[in-house]
Amino acid sequence: MKNYFCKEHLTALLFLLTVGFSCQPEEKATGLLAENAMVVSAHPLTSKVGKDILQQGGNAIDAAVAVQMALAVVYPQAGNIGGGGFMVIREADGQYHSLDYREKAPLAASRDMYLDDKGDALPEKSQNGHLASGVPGSVDGMVKVHEKLGSMDWSKLIDPAIKLAEEGFELSEDEAAYFTRASENLKKYSSVDPVQFTGKAWKVGDIFIQTQLSHTLKLIRDKGRAGFYSGEVADYIVAEMERGGGIISLEDLEKYESTWRNPLTGNYKDYTIITMGPPSSGGLILLQMLGIMEKYQVSNQGQAYADYLHLKTEMERRIFADRAAFMADADFYPVPVDELLAEEYLSQRFSNFDPQSATPSDLIREGNILSMSEETTHFSIVDKKGNAVSCTTTLNGGMGSKVMVAGAGFLLNNEMDDFSIKPGFPNMFGVLGGEANKIEPEKRMLSSMTPTIMEKNNELFMVVGTPGGSTIPTSVFQAVVNVIEFDMGMQEAINEKRFHSQWKPDQISFEKDFEREDVLETLRKKGHELSERNGIGRVDAILVLEDGILEGGADPRGMDAASGY
Ligand code: GLY
Repeated sequence: MKNYFCKEHLTALLFLLTVGFSCQPEEKATGLLAENAMVVSAHPLTSKVGKDILQQGGNAIDAAVAVQMALAVVYPQAGNIGGGGFMVIREADGQYHSLDYREKAPLAASRDMYLDDKGDALPEKSQNGHLASGVPGSVDGMVKVHEKLGSMDWSKLIDPAIKLAEEGFELSEDEAAYFTRASENLKKYSSVDPVQFTGKAWKVGDIFIQTQLSHTLKLIRDKGRAGFYSGEVADYIVAEMERGGGIISLEDLEKYESTWRNPLTGNYKDYTIITMGPPSSGGLILLQMLGIMEKYQVSNQGQAYADYLHLKTEMERRIFADRAAFMADADFYPVPVDELLAEEYLSQRFSNFDPQSATPSDLIREGNILSMSEETTHFSIVDKKGNAVSCTTTLNGGMGSKVMVAGAGFLLNNEMDDFSIKPGFPNMFGVLGGEANKIEPEKRMLSSMTPTIMEKNNELFMVVGTPGGSTIPTSVFQAVVNVIEFDMGMQEAINEKRFHSQWKPDQISFEKDFEREDVLETLRKKGHELSERNGIGRVDAILVLEDGILEGGADPRGMDAASGY
């Protein structure tokens, strides 16, 4: 287990050695432990909703539906019914499934819809307001997963969200500040001022009630898919589009369908990884990184940690270059999944790796990754029988397009910005977009979301995922490596400072307050540019310990919470 000396320890140690005592090791962080079942999500109230469903006899899939719906109420920055996501499921008998409920480009979308007359990109339009939204997938996804694998009455899974919307919930200081800050944009981009949100300066302890949203949730509870994709709510969405210059039509809503896909699977040592394939790039990136790393010995001790971070960065810059060139919605573009994961390809891809020095990103390959907002949300669930759900869901940016559907009370996504808005040219962040991920009607935009489940010797071992845009697969990778290579528990692995690199910009970002200056110095000497930043990702995960006890790891970077019994 990790056990470093901080400066204070060192001074104390010198003193104690002289008087004959030894320094006590730092206590290792442990997450919530539970014998039967566990839910870890972005908000204490949603984790409790999930746990209550499990205690009422629901399975992990029932709990996942209830958590997705409750997140739309208490975590509107990313929880949603107006967005989409991916769910990876492992049934207790070892069967795997993955559900793609990612948004789709509307039928009227076109490749150059975010270019002006001169051909310049208009990222403001792909990021904010009515044109930024893809056709939402979350409600269809929840209906579909419940029909196939749920066990409880649908209405019982929606009721907790309705109650939270109708009766309201108490805002924490951070939530009050976030909601107040967000109000200005919601007012600016929605066609009708959503006063339930923007009507006051929120303060800690205020009760946040959403009457329109509770009505929408009741329609979904009573009519299922038809409660959202046709009738009153669909009319509200289309009216909102018409007032705000958007293009989502009734036909788009009627045609939308979530899709069961074959999960992407791979092996690393004794572990089997079950994760999300295209239209996410996340699972591919994770498997490519683990595939390359299998040939190397890694350690988090002393200078060996800098060597590991160097190796990780060199993998990331090559793999993110692959992402730009080859990864997209496989229904529209032939993503070469097997080729990208082939051992020979990965060896060849890494043949110019130099353990001593960084390869400048420009020498690797022309191309690009998309710049993405990091406001997404993940939850992990294990039930008493051992069914597991790993689910990542998003509006893309914080509060999505910032368009609240008047009358229906929910926010629409700005997922269209996950397409290459201008293939082959730099976008507003100075990065390039690939042809594979160009906009086409009904296509799904490339994602990085990486909901993942791992087995060890065919038994459930870990359920893991995180928000974080392009940092998602690398944060999942670090959580996995911290546990299986560096012998950490789940909470300890999550608490550990994170590093991220993605080909371009040619740099390593690392979380502030990382205290091992010697490690940073070694990376600089190898030629890496380092950039300090605030928290990377919010990993919520569950580890099955050797005695079968579940350890829920909730990321301390947010309000994330574990709840189990
Ligand atoms: N919108 C973030 C992602 O899908 O990766």
